[in-house]
Amino acid sequence: MIIKTHKSIPSSEITEQSVFNQRRQIIKAMLAMGLTGSGAYSRIVDANDTKWQGISKGYQPKAPLTATPSDIVKNHTNYYEFSFNKSDSTSLAQVLPTDPWSVEITGEVEKPGVYHLEDLLSQQSLQEYIYRFRCVEAWSMVVPWVGFSLANLLKTVKPLSSARFVKFTTLFDPSHMPNQKDNNMLQWPYVEGLRIDEAMHPLTILATGMYGEALPKQNGAPLRLVVPWKYGFKSIKAIVKIELVKNPPLSSWSKSGPGEYGFYANVNPEVPHPRWSQSSERVLGAGFFTPRRKTELFNGYAEEVASLYSDMDLRHFF
Ligand code: MTE
Repeated sequence: MIIKTHKSIPSSEITEQSVFNQRRQIIKAMLAMGLTGSGAYSRIVDANDTKWQGISKGYQPKAPLTATPSDIVKNHTNYYEFSFNKSDSTSLAQVLPTDPWSVEITGEVEKPGVYHLEDLLSQQSLQEYIYRFRCVEAWSMVVPWVGFSLANLLKTVKPLSSARFVKFTTLFDPSHMPNQKDNNMLQWPYVEGLRIDEAMHPLTILATGMYGEALPKQNGAPLRLVVPWKYGFKSIKAIVKIELVKNPPLSSWSKSGPGEYGFYANVNPEVPHPRWSQSSERVLGAGFFTPRRKTELFNGYAEEVASLYSDMDLRHFF
């Protein structure tokens, strides 16, 4: 995310990542699925390849996708609670306690409560979702997430008919997240939101892992949102609260730069950011001389999601 002020974000250096701690319940679930090694993901992930058939797929890409090398995804992160430098969160985030973890689900639901993550996960079947991921800063990658449908989780708490939006909140913990006490560029805690039909869409997931491993802390452990047709800033990390609400929640970025970061944030090559084009993207991990990729409407997921916005002016509702 490029910040609206004149302060620039230093460019990243890719560094070696130290081994991160994997949490036992998630690992147990992954062991049950046979998802324990990351080596397999360094090859081309071909949805039609028989070697993948043992793994339950939450989404089958129409064409084979090449997963971005995992060391890049783990070492090029946007996690502003820790740092504005993309390589620093890898080490800084390791101090964050993520086990045990609870999530409050509240608001317009029949069964509000504070739920242990382990209990929530025991009701879900983890699947693999190989998605394109496009940042508003105009870089992209392909990530094999491990997670479950947000809709399946929401159904367990029975949303009321008055629930029209879903608000997500990241942990507020300034003792471990240094920017939450030192930096006011964003208002903390980080907040994001979706319309209820977006939240219930089968492509929208909560991720607990990637590359067959538990989610690294710098990538949002233990629980993050992934909405593949939207810019990456919608994919909020370290979620502690999910609130079903009547009105559109004001997200952290919309509050910080209302003219720059809209509520919808659908990937759209035709709608430039006020300060740069969104027509193409730098593919992380591609060689220096590899041309930029042409950005696709809804990040290539138009067939699945365009109907959600059929009556909307996407320039106005950016
Ligand atoms: N969630 C929180 N809590 N804090 C953040 O700074 N950054 C967002 C999003 N979720 C962010 C966040 C942005 S700008 C992007 S592009 C993605 O996370 C990056 O995800 P990654 O670091 O796993 O690539």
